[in-house]
Amino acid sequence: MFTNAYSTLFQHIRRLYLCIDNSTKDNHILVYFFLSHITSRLDLVECQKMRLFKPIIAAHRRYGSSALSAQKWIYAKTFKGEPNQQNFRLEKEELPALKDGEFLAQAQYISVDPYMRPYMMAYPEGSLMIGGQVGKVLESKNTSFPAGATVFGQFGWRTHTVCNPSDQPMNGPYTYVLPDFGSLPPSLGLGVLGMPGNTAYFGLLELCNPKEGETVVVSGAAGAVGSLVGQIAKLKGCRAIGIAGSDAKCHWLKSIGFDGTINYKTTNNILADLKKIAPKGIDVYFDNVGGQISEAAIKLMNLYGRIAVCGTISNYNTSIEKVTDPMRMMVYKQLKMEGFTVWRWTDRWTEGIAANLKWIQEGKLKWQETVTEGFENTPAALIDMLKGGNTGKAVVKV
Ligand SMILES: NC(=O)c1ccc[n+]([C@@H]2O[C@H](COP(=O)([O-])OP(=O)(O)OC[C@H]3O[C@@H](n4cnc5c(N)ncnc54)[C@H](OP(=O)(O)O)[C@@H]3O)[C@@H](O)[C@H]2O)c1
Repeated sequence: MFTNAYSTLFQHIRRLYLCIDNSTKDNHILVYFFLSHITSRLDLVECQKMRLFKPIIAAHRRYGSSALSAQKWIYAKTFKGEPNQQNFRLEKEELPALKDGEFLAQAQYISVDPYMRPYMMAYPEGSLMIGGQVGKVLESKNTSFPAGATVFGQFGWRTHTVCNPSDQPMNGPYTYVLPDFGSLPPSLGLGVLGMPGNTAYFGLLELCNPKEGETVVVSGAAGAVGSLVGQIAKLKGCRAIGIAGSDAKCHWLKSIGFDGTINYKTTNNILADLKKIAPKGIDVYFDNVGGQISEAAIKLMNLYGRIAVCGTISNYNTSIEKVTDPMRMMVYKQLKMEGFTVWRWTDRWTEGIAANLKWIQEGKLKWQETVTEGFENTPAALIDMLKGGNTGKAVVKV
């Protein structure tokens, strides 16, 4: 017999199922004890001979974060070439009880981003996989992060996190309560209303100063950052050209307002295609990829052109390509080329989110997500994104 009992006694235990077997010959009752804990998974299954009151005590011991088990993905083997499943290992970790200033968050969405590939090379094997996530605060001893709040945190690839925000470095937006997105999904806090959105917003507007009538070319155009760069360029009255890796991606870019697209995987001559599609030359190049695509774009830059170097994904899995030295072009065309990381605008973080949110609400900025279901598929989502499997932002729904 299964009874759904005691669940109201312990608010952090969703369901307590007891299977009671009275048929034993001694005085004990055999109690099968199943807990559906706040992980929303059946994470505890006990079966033992005990008196009926014993399960209540056992349940109480399990109560709270003191015995909550988190799942986490470990960087098990140093990346070599394209990442594969052998680079990752799933582990469990018992979480401690909350101390003053701490809160417990449950991951809802985990971000997979290109930077994870090169950045993890600096970490020893056995490290937690790094990365941002959007989660729900389950318990809190920190009034700035109350229970029920939806937060962004640089918690890494883990289902549950005990966090004390004051222990974190002060040089970046590591943990914050998400602004009110209205009816938009919280996962956007990892994309257009988070780090990639701010990368596009500040990288394009602050470094490239796009002016009405100018031609803006963006590589990695159908991804989280690139798709926004082209649209923001359009909002500033520019002509937007996107370079992406499939016809379907190019089609989507056209549907959200890009004036021209190139599928770099099917073209025989990217320089010739760019010349055709940007007959007046390029005023702004937003570089997400580096390598041969960037070599071609830089050759077509106009006088006083601006180049924002955002990323070089073409060489994250491979050695750096040899391309033509662009320095002569830099001089003759008096170009400005600047690399950046988005953390430069940490003190203006909410400004970028608010601007992108307003454009979305006005119907001027479109977003797309590629959602992988299940925490267990987080490595697969990263592997797939690095191969171009995503359109828009790649996220994992936990
Ligand atoms: N500087 C910063 O602060 C900052 C912040 C965020 C991101 N970034 C950089 O910005 C770039 C885009 O990031 P994201 O988050 O928006 O990722 P994303 O574009 O959503 O996803 C990565 C995309 O890169 C493309 N790609 C993979 N291998 C490639 C190759 N060999 N050549 C050309 N394209 C390739 C794939 O699309 P295709 O199908 O088109 O190949 C893939 O979908 C990355 O370089 C990233 O490191 C920099």
